[in-house]
Amino acid sequence: MPKDVIIALDFNTSKETLEFLEVFHPLHPFVKIGMELFYAEGPSVVRKLKQNGHRVFLDLKLHDIPNTVRKSMRVLAELGVDVCNLHAAGTTAMMRAALDGLTEGSPSGCRPLLVAVTQLTSTSEEVMHNELLIPNTMEETVRHYAMNAHTAGLDGVVCSPLEAGLVKKACGADFITITPGIRFAGAAGDDQSRITTPARAREIGSDYIVVGRPITQAASPLDAYKQCCREFLNA
Ligand code: C5P
Repeated sequence: MPKDVIIALDFNTSKETLEFLEVFHPLHPFVKIGMELFYAEGPSVVRKLKQNGHRVFLDLKLHDIPNTVRKSMRVLAELGVDVCNLHAAGTTAMMRAALDGLTEGSPSGCRPLLVAVTQLTSTSEEVMHNELLIPNTMEETVRHYAMNAHTAGLDGVVCSPLEAGLVKKACGADFITITPGIRFAGAAGDDQSRITTPARAREIGSDYIVVGRPITQAASPLDAYKQCCREFLNA
């Protein structure tokens, strides 16, 4: 399983995004485009980053009725991204429909990977119990949602790095774990709840770490990215 560091490009203009990426040249890191950038700039920024040689995780976290998700995924597939996602809470019927849509929209037969968000890394077990009325433990919930995604034929899940090991145990070593909630040792967690370091994420078995503010807000984003690679990839 290839491991990599994915930079979350949580900016709201293409200009800021492309300027931010200049210092990484010629590395072409794997990047994540989330709602903020996509809603501001639309498909053009996705195409631009693909043209510039980046692998792209399009993090739009779809969650709607199966027919709508299927048709939306068919459209997103045409952007040629590497990874798409949705919320596992949308049910296995929705996840299967999403997979069908992605396959239909990828005439080359090479569809993007599809992964499901189990529980957001900003959600604590306490909030999950009290607001979402899910009485199980966080680990049980993440395991169950991951197994639903596996049953629906998805390629993997987005979860906390703390849960990567239990997902692998339940769904197999090839089932991909993409893990936000990454902070360097001693750093503040911001709004994230289930966090750990790049080094610990490697030990637990995560395949890809998603890192936003620890890189984008660093005094030297390039140095912060390289530190993530050293800790996570031993590189
Ligand atoms: O800045 P930070 O490293 O906390 O950014 C994490 C990124 O990962 C954000 O873009 C956020 O939207 C995304 N994400 C997350 N938790 C998930 C799925 C995606 O934090 N479960």
